Amino acid sequence: MKAFIVYCHPSENSFTRHIRDAFIQGVTDAGHECVISDLYRMDFQADMTEAEYLRDAHYRTTPDVAADVRAEQEKINASDAIVFIYPVFWSEAPAKLVGWFDRVWSYGFAYGDRTMKTLNKGLILCSAGNPIDYLEETGILDSMKKVMLGDRLTGRVKQAEFVVFDSTSRENPLREENWDKNLKAVYEKGKSLFAAK
Ligand SMILES: Cc1cc2nc3c(=O)[nH]c(=O)nc-3n(C[C@H](O)[C@H](O)[C@H](O)COP(=O)(O)O)c2cc1C
Repeated sequence: MKAFIVYCHPSENSFTRHIRDAFIQGVTDAGHECVISDLYRMDFQADMTEAEYLRDAHYRTTPDVAADVRAEQEKINASDAIVFIYPVFWSEAPAKLVGWFDRVWSYGFAYGDRTMKTLNKGLILCSAGNPIDYLEETGILDSMKKVMLGDRLTGRVKQAEFVVFDSTSRENPLREENWDKNLKAVYEKGKSLFAAK
């Protein structure tokens, strides 16, 4: 089985990078394969061009999507699961990943007369500086889940899960205290990604 990982963090000096590595280790230890798009490293273009906007706005499948968008869509359709790994920025995914959705979830691929396959699994692993209590009490966690699961992934994956690793701010001692425990949980998520339920 193959997992397509969409990874989005500007720095290798990050906890999120360790989430990526632990997850890949889990998937490969279970005998499966990972394909990764590292959006910052690829310098993935997040902005829609005007032509792309007009294509989607008019529900047209012409002109053809750009080569970088096509490459992402081909990776999706060659995979069994899609996994998003990113830090929460202003209660959302980083702008580069939001732009990835704007362009890759194109008309005729992700909606309309859809050519995107229905993947077996969708998984979101994100790190958040704030404590989970704050994210729950303010409704921010629900809003992040609603957007990722209830809009972007809905109907496009058979099973979906949103996992947040909270209190990862560098000024919070829990970042270090929970480090190993969190990465172990990530590793197990990778290992069990394709396990039968
Ligand atoms: C521009 C920016 C915006 C952020 N916005 C939020 C936020 O809205 N909510 C939150 O919980 N953490 C927020 N954070 C904290 C990051 O999520 C946190 O730094 C990250 O998860 C720590 O992991 P890292 O070592 O992988 O960067 C923000 C950080 C940055 C740099």
